Formats: sequence, structure tokens, C-alpha cells
Amino acid sequence: MHLDKVTAPALRTMKEHGRRVVALTAYDYPTAQLLDQAGVDLLLVGDSVGDNALGLENTLPVTLEMMLHHTAAVSRAAKRALVVADMPFLTYQVDPSAALENAGRLVREAGAEAVKVEGAGRRAIEAIEALVEVGIPVLGHVGYTPQSTHAFGASRVRGKDAAAARLVLAAAHRLESAGCSAIVLECTPGPLSRRITEELAVPTIGIGAGPHCDGQVLIVNDVLNLGVAGTFRPRFAKQYADLAAIINEAVSSYASEVRQDLFPGPEHSFDMPQEELQRLTEETTKS
Ligand code: KIV
Repeated sequence: MHLDKVTAPALRTMKEHGRRVVALTAYDYPTAQLLDQAGVDLLLVGDSVGDNALGLENTLPVTLEMMLHHTAAVSRAAKRALVVADMPFLTYQVDPSAALENAGRLVREAGAEAVKVEGAGRRAIEAIEALVEVGIPVLGHVGYTPQSTHAFGASRVRGKDAAAARLVLAAAHRLESAGCSAIVLECTPGPLSRRITEELAVPTIGIGAGPHCDGQVLIVNDVLNLGVAGTFRPRFAKQYADLAAIINEAVSSYASEVRQDLFPGPEHSFDMPQEELQRLTEETTKS
């Protein structure tokens, strides 16, 4: 297995060698450490931290401070994987110098090795160009972009008809021209994702974008079933383990043992020498 540290330029080399990019989101130190050790190439500290780890409704309330906190934890854990931090809503669209300052904090204070921004409109492109110019690698993100949730209708899938597909294709090209190291395609039809993947030199990383992308990313909570019961799980998210069931069983056993005085046993307790106990008893009964 290829164990070298994954860098932003390595993503393009992986595409050139036909090697898929394996990406997952990560929001905390222990999970990031497990994913890194399991060989995940890219850890995305997504602003999906809002709805997946912080109990928020969606990604819109996520702040730069929250991203700094979670990115720093993931960076401390990642030894091999590339750590990419999402730039929250309105931290890059207002003006390119604010984008530089905010991305700079994610890199300098939290250890991000690249940042990701959503969309390919004028403001996003200006921000990307400014970041790339100072040496901050950027991942783009088109198709369904959760920070624009209020601007979309009910369907998440972007580019189903020819006119809409042309817009997504053009957006992906603009991101590549602006200097993005890779582009996340979210909820784009498989044939469109394939066309984009074939036309771009930089890798596409799909989420709900079919099998023809250069890599795949999923939300770690969906993969491991770490969500709260009843949480929306999109059709494209495959569950590979049921940690919710494992946690429920383990915690129920703990609770039952505590209630029955079975835990802690002697092997989980500390003792003290008999003579010290006796001295304590004598000293405390004298006074
Ligand atoms: O925030 C996130 O986790 C993302 C993924 C959906 C790609 O942007």
C-alpha cells in the first residue's frame, strides 16, 4: 500500500495514475485518527459538522471559530491523510481579502492543508484565485452546494436536464481554471459526473455523483451509522457499520452493571494499605 503523506498536488498525480481518492468527513481527534490509520486519503472537516456533530439544523450557522476548533483536532490526528477544511458560509464570498484572512487562520492556527469553498460564481472564483496565489490549495464544490440550500428547490440533484448540466459543466471548468486542486461533485447525475471527470485534469470527488468520479467522499456518520435515530440519510450514502447499535448495547450493559453494583469490580478500583486505613480510622476518630 502507498503510505506517503497525501498532499494537495498528489491528488492530481493520483488521477494521472488512475488511483481513486478515498475521502471521508471527520470532525474530532479519535475518529480522525481511526480513519487516518485505516488508510483514508483525505479527511474533510466539512461544515457538515453543524448538522452531524453539533446538533445544528444545517451548515449555515457554522462559524469560522467552530471550524478552527474541529479542524485543529483533526489535524492533530492525521499523519498521512490530507486535511481539508470547509470555509463556512460568508467567510469567503464577501471579499477576497476576508477569504485570505479566514483561510489563513484555518491553515496557520488549525493546521488545514487545503480549504474547500462552495460554488463557482464570481465571488467564489475571486476568492479561490486569491487563495491559490498565496499558496493555499483549494478544493471546489459544485452540483448541490448545501450553503445555498435556501436557493434550491426540493430536489437535490443538479444538472438533470441539458441546460442545467451545461451550467454545472461550465462551473467545474471555471473552478479548474481558477486553480482548484480537486472538485467535489455533489448530487450530479452519473453521466454528467463522467463527462466532467473526463474533461478535467484535476480529480473529481463525488458524493451522490455516481461511480465515474476520480474519488468518493461520504459523511462519516452515515458510513458508520453514528447519527441520531431518524436523522435524514440520503439514498447515496451507504452504511458500512452500525455503531449506533453497538453503542446502545455497550451503554445499556454499563448502565445495568452500575445499577446492579456489578461495576466497578476490584480490577477497576484502587486499594490502600491496611495499616494506612487503620491509621486514618484512628486519627479521624481521635479528633
Ligand atoms: O460539509 C461537507 O461535509 C461537505 C461534503 C458533503 C462534501 O461539503
